[in-house]
Amino acid sequence: MTIAIVGGSGPQGSGIGVRLAAAGERVVLGSRDAARAVAEAERLSEAHGLRGSLTGAANRDAVEAADTVILAVPYTGHTELVESLAVPLSGKLVISCVNPLAFDKHGPVGAEIPDRSAAEEAARLLPESVVAGAFHHLSAVTLHRLEHDLSHEDVLVCGDDQAGKERVMRLAEQVTGGRAIDVGALRLARHLEPFTAVLISVNKRYKTNASVSLTGIGKGEK
Ligand SMILES: NC(=O)c1ccc[n+]([C@@H]2O[C@H](COP(=O)([O-])OP(=O)(O)OC[C@H]3O[C@@H](n4cnc5c(N)ncnc54)[C@H](OP(=O)(O)O)[C@@H]3O)[C@@H](O)[C@H]2O)c1
Repeated sequence: MTIAIVGGSGPQGSGIGVRLAAAGERVVLGSRDAARAVAEAERLSEAHGLRGSLTGAANRDAVEAADTVILAVPYTGHTELVESLAVPLSGKLVISCVNPLAFDKHGPVGAEIPDRSAAEEAARLLPESVVAGAFHHLSAVTLHRLEHDLSHEDVLVCGDDQAGKERVMRLAEQVTGGRAIDVGALRLARHLEPFTAVLISVNKRYKTNASVSLTGIGKGEK
């Protein structure tokens, strides 16, 4: 399996990419500028000894080479970008970790957007793809510290296609070495995405990288 990361030159996409490559997956970091993606993939491969499993390419080429695609771009420009990639994304599993957020003098807050979540917007724009939401609450800072154990963090996964969601959950377990939790339908991205505003606010107040871990779910329950 090859995993493309659209916006993979940024901290979140490259952080997920490094973790997946370190777990043995083949990952292509995408960018609007192929040279930037190649340089970032080479830098990270060198730093983490991942030569061969982490490469870079233009977003479109990365998507064309992949079976599974992670969208890791800011919400600004999301609509245009996803529309522009609709054909190569057709028939593929698309995972959105996009958090539409707004910031003002009170701090971060979930942004009000037409489709109510970025993941639902992607699903509307990509009728021929299977779209799921995941990785919204993992911090790019800790993703890049490979020595940092993330197995206590839960990855909350939403989606309307059960088989697709289960594939996302297996990938999420590779990223953190911990649990992925099926939270339900894709529309729950409306709650997962803006919750990141709470984590950012907590991080600022407590000078930390807070994460999500749910209680009350027994070992082995899916
Ligand atoms: N950072 C975190 O800790 C974190 C945690 C959880 C979720 N997220 C979410 O993950 C997504 C990516 O986060 P990030 O911090 O990596 O973001 P970022 O650095 O702002 O952007 C990631 C990449 O997206 C591309 N990009 C920027 N503007 C674009 C546009 N208008 N159209 C197309 N591509 C554009 C850029 O790549 P090129 O210029 O190379 O194309 C950039 O390197 C966001 O939605 C964020 O909310 C982030």
